[in-house]
Amino acid sequence: MSKYYILTYGCQMNKSDSEKYAGIFESLGYKSAEFIEDADVILLNTCSVREKAEEKVIGKLGELKKIKVKKPNILIGIAGCMAQRVGEEFLNKFPYIDFILGSYSFSKLPLVLRNLSLERKPQIIIEKDPIPEDIPWYLSKRESSFQAWIPIIYGCNNFCTYCIVPYLRGREKSRPKEDIIEEAKNLAQRGVVEITLLGQNVDSYGKDLGNTDLADLLEELHKIDGIKRIRFLTSHPRDVSLKLINTVAKLEKVCPHWHLPLQAGSNRILQKMRRGYTYEEYYELINLIRKIIPYSSFSTDIIVGFPGEEEEDFEKTRKALEEIKFDTVNLAIYSKRPGTVAEKFDDPIPYEKKKEWFNELENLQRRIILEKNENLVGKEEIILAEDVNPKNPEEILGRTQNYRIVFFKGERKNLGKFFLVKIIKAGLWSLKGEIVKELK
Ligand code: SAH
Ligand code: SF4
Ligand code: F3S
Repeated sequence: MSKYYILTYGCQMNKSDSEKYAGIFESLGYKSAEFIEDADVILLNTCSVREKAEEKVIGKLGELKKIKVKKPNILIGIAGCMAQRVGEEFLNKFPYIDFILGSYSFSKLPLVLRNLSLERKPQIIIEKDPIPEDIPWYLSKRESSFQAWIPIIYGCNNFCTYCIVPYLRGREKSRPKEDIIEEAKNLAQRGVVEITLLGQNVDSYGKDLGNTDLADLLEELHKIDGIKRIRFLTSHPRDVSLKLINTVAKLEKVCPHWHLPLQAGSNRILQKMRRGYTYEEYYELINLIRKIIPYSSFSTDIIVGFPGEEEEDFEKTRKALEEIKFDTVNLAIYSKRPGTVAEKFDDPIPYEKKKEWFNELENLQRRIILEKNENLVGKEEIILAEDVNPKNPEEILGRTQNYRIVFFKGERKNLGKFFLVKIIKAGLWSLKGEIVKELK
């Protein structure tokens, strides 16, 4: 029996896409390989958001050459955002690649494999303007039996000047509400207790459908028996509505955790990024959410060293982190992406300086997190037991509503269940807790 192995880079959407590819492999009779060396087909599901993400793929392709020399019959395929961007040119440097599939070419995998079984010749299927396209949800092979990603909207219309995603993922396209609800109901029947709704900009959900939005969708999903926790990401600060905030406040299954990428604290830079809000507006939104839902938590993305950023702009970002005190900050040094508007911007600040700024923000955020984590000691949190601690088989790892990792004594049979856990110790990256009781 043939075996497949998928390596996934990039965002949650890519993780969800890899579950689709896995499902398609299985529907063709393939089994998942435990080790990459045992696979007959290796698929790299790639990311292009920053140069570093692409370098990882290139490094991996170098390694895979050795496997290919040892096992010439193995098939190597590339899918996802970098495949969409680089396309055929991959073959110049890596002639041993057997197939390349663009952003939404899931349904072409069977064809490509069939063609390769008839003739060993690289297969390339990439739509120039990718149209977000779904495959039946039940084809996905989900990694977890009790947690599930559910994409609700594909693509992006925002064209922030630094970002390559809209070029690779096409324009926004919402999935029909009935499809999403049917998927969630079926997942619940199979034991899924937590769902995470995915989109580059989930607040845009429904705009292209008319007559519905994310708040309505959350209301519907909230009614499903069996689903106990609902998350959603990413929110665009410009598009979060009062209706959505009030809905999240009202629905107890919906985690009041907001992933709201700020990107920069300086209005001059925000404007050059074409983000569509000022820092003051962003801060007001955070305060509004905190007022309506006091136990809300916030995570964000920050780009350090955007072209033309100066010391005083950087200072504003630093102040923003101090002022807002995010629960998580994803920091990234600006990376020039081909074809974007910012590619042409002057970028005089040397990389070393950007690295200094990056380190400064990282240290600041560490202090903030440690302080926040220490404040949790003694508190009781609702935790879904997600996995066994890979470093200690007697411990379970789970997350609080606001995404903090907590370790506590437990066994494999606890996985997929909710517990009330008392936090007893705080670290930088995780908390320690003890079970108070199991929640039904
Ligand atoms: N749709 C989401 C996330 C998209 S990509 C949003 O609007 O925020 C995830 C993060 O990658 C972005 O939030 C941004 O912080 C970062 N990013 C995107 N392009 C980048 C670039 N060219 N250089 C550095 N970071 C980038
Ligand atoms: Fe990229 Fe901006 Fe769209 Fe996010 S909203 S995917 S950062 S263009
Ligand atoms: Fe990367 Fe594509 Fe996601 S570029 S961040 S994998 S949408």
